[in-house]
Amino acid sequence: MSKPTLVSGIQPTGKLHIGNYLGALKNFIQLQNDYECYYFIATYHSLTAGHDPKTKRDLIFNVALDYLAAGIDPSKVALFNQADAPECTELAWIFNCLTPIAELERMTQFKDKSAKNAKNINIGLLDYPVLQAADILIYRAEKVPVGEDQVQHVELTRNIARWFNNTYGQYFKQPEPILTKAKRIMSIIDPTKKMSKSYGDNHCIYLTDEPDVILNKIKKAPTGTGTEGTPTHGAANLLMLLEEFGATEEAAIFKKDIKNKTIKYSKLKTVLAKTISNYFADFRKKRKELEKNPDYIWNILKQGAEKARPIAERTMREVKEKIGIL
Ligand code: TYM
Repeated sequence: MSKPTLVSGIQPTGKLHIGNYLGALKNFIQLQNDYECYYFIATYHSLTAGHDPKTKRDLIFNVALDYLAAGIDPSKVALFNQADAPECTELAWIFNCLTPIAELERMTQFKDKSAKNAKNINIGLLDYPVLQAADILIYRAEKVPVGEDQVQHVELTRNIARWFNNTYGQYFKQPEPILTKAKRIMSIIDPTKKMSKSYGDNHCIYLTDEPDVILNKIKKAPTGTGTEGTPTHGAANLLMLLEEFGATEEAAIFKKDIKNKTIKYSKLKTVLAKTISNYFADFRKKRKELEKNPDYIWNILKQGAEKARPIAERTMREVKEKIGIL
């Protein structure tokens, strides 16, 4: 029996942080054996933020390194650059003609990004979720592993599939998101905000951060115990990370210490920094090795696109037949 299909992507806008990892990439790796996986670098999405042509290729290369060093196996999945499988943009156009503008204007990410970047509210930024729907549906995906911030876009994808089917006859399945337990990782220094590069490097722990950098960032995290012996938001954030990175026993001891008000937060911070550093030690090593061989990396992306394109082309052919233009 053929495996169900799964699609997801990551934008090439900079280094990946532990939010990307715990919310999405960790699932990508776990699910690659059980699904037919299409993992890509969302280059076209990343153009909505404006970009420097001199650095874009390097950013694409770096996301490819992150995927591979974290454990994505290119012999099992199609790992590719979205720009090398551009049929998704053609499908996005067809979806554009079915999608009410009001649906896009109410997207949380559009509202956030346009508020942050009032000088560059381009059509791409508004239309971004339609391209995302095309990425997902062009491979006829049933599942989409993402962090919580992308769930609204997957819901829109379901709507677009429904609008298409209602207009032109049953064709697309309605894909569902797959979330991790840690679906929304918060900033290290401001735990009221989602961890995001856009707030600054000090808010994020990057997968490539060296142990001393990780410790310095965690040292700046707010902590504290409430009167009831409960951890504050910042302290709870650190405990959650400790558990997520596998130090559950240590986390249980620190929780007891918080309750008894005997906690030493400096110790919690040191243990957490060490746990995260150790967790990504192999990743850092593997990434440095892979980095030495750019041709190998670009070749993997090329081969990934060759696996993905025949599926995308077939969907486009069938869609064009369905809508009566072929
Ligand atoms: P992007 O590049 O912003 O993020 C990549 C993945 O990381 C997740 N993520 C988080 N999860 C938990 N906590 C956080 N603080 C956190 N920050 C980021 C995101 O939810 C995402 O899963 N639109 C997508 C890229 C995309 C895509 C697609 C995804 C384009 N087409 C098709 C799935 C299917 C994005 O901007 O992700």
